[in-house]
Amino acid sequence: KGWMGETFYMYQGFWYRSSSPFSVQMTMAMQDSFKPHPTDIYLLTLPKSGTTWVKALMFATVNRATYNHGNNTLLLTHPLLVSNPHKCVPYIEQEFIKKTPTHVQEKPNPCLHAPPRLFSTHIPYTSLPRLILDSGCRLVYLCRNPKDVMVSWYYFSNKFPHEILTPMTINEMFEVFVKGMVPYGPYWDHVKEYYNASCEHPTKILFLTYEVMKKDTMNQVKRIAEFLGCPFSKEEEGNGGVDQIIRLCSLESLKEVNKDGEYGDGIPNAAFFREGKVGGWRNDLTDEMIKILDDITDEKFQDLDISF
Ligand code: A3P
Repeated sequence: KGWMGETFYMYQGFWYRSSSPFSVQMTMAMQDSFKPHPTDIYLLTLPKSGTTWVKALMFATVNRATYNHGNNTLLLTHPLLVSNPHKCVPYIEQEFIKKTPTHVQEKPNPCLHAPPRLFSTHIPYTSLPRLILDSGCRLVYLCRNPKDVMVSWYYFSNKFPHEILTPMTINEMFEVFVKGMVPYGPYWDHVKEYYNASCEHPTKILFLTYEVMKKDTMNQVKRIAEFLGCPFSKEEEGNGGVDQIIRLCSLESLKEVNKDGEYGDGIPNAAFFREGKVGGWRNDLTDEMIKILDDITDEKFQDLDISF
C-alpha cells in the first residue's frame, strides 16, 4: 500500500497507481504506440514540483504571437486567463485514451491545433517512449527540493473529496514518500535519471529547478525560450514582453483564474495553487523528518550538481 492507502505497482523501477490514466498499463500502451511529432515539446516533472506553473510559462512563451493583440497587449481570451494550465498543456496520458491494449487514440484539444504541440508527463526517463528520445522533440525537466515536494503532496492529497480518497496525516505522507511509494516515485531516482540524461544530451533536455525558477524567473524564462527555439527579441524584452508572461503565469493570477471549477475526479482547480514558496517545509516537518530526508538526498545526489 502506498500513497493514500492505494495499491501501488512497480514498473521498470518506479511506482504507479493502479487507476487510470496514470497507470502502468497506460505507460506500457504509450511505450507501444505513442507517435511523437519531431516538433513536440515535453515538460517532464514529478507531481508537486511546480508542473502547473511551468506548463503555463511554456505555453505562454511558445504561443506568445498567437495571443498578442499588438503592443504587448494580451487577448482577453488568452487560454491562461480563462482556464487551468493543465488544459493548455495536457498530460500525454490524458490526451490519449486507450482504445485497445496496444493502441492509443488522439483526442482533439484546441490548444494543440498548430505545432509545436506541448505535452507533459511524469513518466520516468527509463520508461519514456523511446520515439520521444529518438526524434527531434525537446524536453524540459523541472525538479524541486524533496522536502517541499513532500509537503506539497500532503496538502494536495487532502484536497481530494473524502469519498474518493481517505485523507492522510503528515506522518503517513512522510512514510510513503520515503519509501518512494508515491506516483512515479522514488523521487530521488526520477530526478537522478533525468539529471544524468540532461548532462548526456544537453541540447535535447533542459534541466531546471523550481528554486532557481523562483529566484530568477526572468532569466529562466528567457533560457526556456531559447532552448525551445523561440528566443525573445531585444524589442520584446524592451517592451516588457517577458514581464507580461511572468505576470500572466504568477501564482496570484493563476490562483484567481482557477479559484472555482474542477480539474477532474472531484479535485478543485484551486488545489494546484497553494503557497508556492521555497522552503515552506520548515513549518510542517519535524527535525527527525528533515534529517531523514536530508540524509537520503545527500546520499542519492552526491554525484549531482543540484542545490536547492
Ligand atoms: P505548494 O504546495 O508548495 O504551494 P504541481 O503543479 O507540480 O502539482 O506543483 C504544485 C506546486 O506548485 C504547489 O506548491 C503550488 O502552489 C505551486 N505553484 C502553482 N502555481 C505556481 C506559480 N504560478 N508560481 C509558483 N508556484 C506555483
